[in-house]
Amino acid sequence: MIEAHAIVKRFGRVLAVDRVSFTVPARSVCGFLGPNGAGKSTSIRMVVGAMAPDEGEVLVGGRRMEPGAEAVRRAVGYLPEESPVTPDLTVEEFVRFRAELWGVPRAARGAAVDRALSRCNVSDVRRRLCGQLSKGYRQRVGMAAAIVHAPAVLVLDEPTSGLDPAQVRDFRALVRSLAEESTVLLSSHVLAEVEASCDRAVLIDRGRVVADGSMADLRARGASGAVVVVECARDAAAALASIDGVRVAAASAGADGWCVHELALEPSVDADRACEAVARALGAAGISLRRLERTEPALESVFHRLIAGAGARP
Ligand SMILES: Nc1ncnc2c1ncn2[C@@H]1O[C@H](COP(=O)(O)OP(=O)(O)O)[C@@H](O)[C@H]1O
Ligand SMILES: [Mg+2]
Repeated sequence: MIEAHAIVKRFGRVLAVDRVSFTVPARSVCGFLGPNGAGKSTSIRMVVGAMAPDEGEVLVGGRRMEPGAEAVRRAVGYLPEESPVTPDLTVEEFVRFRAELWGVPRAARGAAVDRALSRCNVSDVRRRLCGQLSKGYRQRVGMAAAIVHAPAVLVLDEPTSGLDPAQVRDFRALVRSLAEESTVLLSSHVLAEVEASCDRAVLIDRGRVVADGSMADLRARGASGAVVVVECARDAAAALASIDGVRVAAASAGADGWCVHELALEPSVDADRACEAVARALGAAGISLRRLERTEPALESVFHRLIAGAGARP
């Protein structure tokens, strides 16, 4: 339902999104998981057509998404990271305005607004000003506005950040009920959020996809080990950085001065081929190698390392 093909976005010299590709099958809830600054919001803006990629393309329902493609954009409901409500409109006015914006015919607008307000449990505040609502209510109103045109795809950027635990629980239930009729892409920097709400996840770090699959796949992949440990005579980050699909996830110096590097492999990279490439790269750089092995980290630790950003760089 959603296909991102090698999308790229640069802000000046910052490469925010670096050839990100993923697909979200129809009627699934897909998590987009990564630490702050990973490139989630930027990728999402390209998915919803709010921003054009510098390279690559996004297809929604097989049609190319881009800022001018209104018909394609209408297939998508989008709840941005920043609360989208207009403070001086009432809830009902705001949601009605969005219905109009997304092309709901005038005659159908009243019913569409009623339905969206009721699904998101905000009918009771329909005459209140958006600016006076609590964060939890604002988020629900933003969601009502995102679904008022009954989009086939719903894209939510960090939808529960800033909510209290009871609001998080309610919001997750709402997402699950909406997922029965649409395809959902939900970003978060919190593993628990994705585990609670999603069938699949794309893990993104520093603008790149580092893993992608069903939650079960990801667990299996974590267990089968897409991490390689390299111990060599000195810091080899520069030599290792030249290998495609391989990233130095952690580096540390041992007591005897040798360096241990932990390499994260992109999902497409075969670990044996990566090991061969590592050996060649170190050989070419004249760095002695004393250990080169695949490890089998638990998925949890992969997630947590990514999310905490701990030891990410030497
Ligand atoms: N409008 C912008 N101008 C310049 N840099 C930006 C802009 N938006 C995002 N970035 C940078 O792009 C990177 C990814 O940001 P973002 O997509 O917001 O990450 P996330 O949503 O995962 O926290 C960050 O380094 C951020 O500082
Ligand atoms: Mg963000």
